[in-house]
Amino acid sequence: APAAVDIMYRPAIHYSPKLGFMNDPNGLLHRDGLYHLYFQYDPDASLAGHVHWGHATSSDLYHWHDQPIAIDETPSGEAFTGSVVADPDNLSGLFKAGQTGMVAIYTRASAHSQTQWIATGLDGQTLTDAPGNPVLDLHSDSFRDPKVIFHAPSGQWVMVVALSRLHQIGFFTSPDLQHWTEASRFGPAGLLGIDYECPNLVELPVADGGSRWVLFVSINPGSPQGGSCTQYFVGDFDGRAFTADRPVAQIIDFAKDFYALQFYAGVEKPTAIAWMGNWQYCQEVPTHAWRGLMTLPREMSLAHDPIQGLRLAQQPAGLEALRGPRIAMDPGRIDAGSARQVALPEGQAIELSITFEIDNDPSGPAAGGKGRGGRFAIEFSNDQGEMLSIGVDALAQQAWLDRSRLRGFSQPFFTGQFSTPIAPRDRRARFRIILDACSVEVFTQDGMEVGTALIYPAAPLNLLRLHTSGSDAIVHAVELHPLAKTMER
Ligand code: FRU
Repeated sequence: APAAVDIMYRPAIHYSPKLGFMNDPNGLLHRDGLYHLYFQYDPDASLAGHVHWGHATSSDLYHWHDQPIAIDETPSGEAFTGSVVADPDNLSGLFKAGQTGMVAIYTRASAHSQTQWIATGLDGQTLTDAPGNPVLDLHSDSFRDPKVIFHAPSGQWVMVVALSRLHQIGFFTSPDLQHWTEASRFGPAGLLGIDYECPNLVELPVADGGSRWVLFVSINPGSPQGGSCTQYFVGDFDGRAFTADRPVAQIIDFAKDFYALQFYAGVEKPTAIAWMGNWQYCQEVPTHAWRGLMTLPREMSLAHDPIQGLRLAQQPAGLEALRGPRIAMDPGRIDAGSARQVALPEGQAIELSITFEIDNDPSGPAAGGKGRGGRFAIEFSNDQGEMLSIGVDALAQQAWLDRSRLRGFSQPFFTGQFSTPIAPRDRRARFRIILDACSVEVFTQDGMEVGTALIYPAAPLNLLRLHTSGSDAIVHAVELHPLAKTMER
């Protein structure tokens, strides 16, 4: 029988493998109405190692169907991270006349060598190594994670791949996915850490028009928050080289559990999924039979922050379709020092959307010394005294995410408290929070500040409390929904 923790921490709407250990998303491709999600996977142990490509498919990015292993570990090595492209015109020449299919480009990794391989499939159920592998070999043991896109203006495939220990991203081009030519390198730049991993290159729309190229580079270890994290650079790409606008690396997430994101090929709106985990503790989290989950699919764009310039803006994709009947919670004033609360259904994911204002009018009686005080907390708790707290401090102009008062998991690197600046725009703060078993995703500042965190309460969090201190607060709007996979799809 499955252990109680394996059931309690199983997310309802996030993808997690039934058994085994999962890390990076791989081969994200939308083709013939089906979303493919491949992933770094050891089916036989809930620890990293013996990496295969696991596989699941979905028509909506939420209802996933597990599929057989798509790429095996072989005597040549483990099947490390990579991407999949559709080849509708058989540019690769790898398909028979009248057939078209999918091509995976991934890393074969052994103790002494990391090289890039290709594998083909007609429907993606199995991906079979093509003749002539490896297609790219720099005689390096730190050369991995190819992400390939088709660059229409130059009519060529472009691969970004990490020269991990050199802290460089290699740009290679190919007419056929089999012959690759080095076009340029980017870096060292931004945060280096020990290794660069899992680059992605994508053109993203900008909120007020136009588009820009963004290069994503994951690093591990060496994140400022600890362990692994993903940074990005905004700039230009001419088909051969990427140039960053500013010598500035921005970190995607203000918490610790967002890594190795990958963008979908074959979609209109740029959509990405990341691994919800951190290499500092992913092999010790308290589930037994399975470990690892993916973030919600997120739609990605760029938006102008008045202070920080162009930033990534993220929103969960298509979540509205999973909403169950609204759980009643009224907007209105919450006096300083008081709270409002509502019971949460257990065993379901929850979405909270809330707009509030800390009403710190300097002339008001509850305003505090300089009229700038006030704290607003969103607390998820239970009768065991555990609490997950998320909130805003008006004086500090920062938001926090605090998972330190949950007791299901303790480990030296599993740190508890995170924060981010959130300069108020119109005095109103907007939060969208998705809570699902062992995960929380916090979207604020129109998705320009996002915190993604694993959470391990010893018992389910079944109470939501809005709490103010130092100043009154006005809840302008609040919407609370359970989220569930409603039908068999
Ligand atoms: C990133 C990573 C990749 C590698 C894979 C191995 O999390 O270390 O660089 O390809 O995981 O599973």
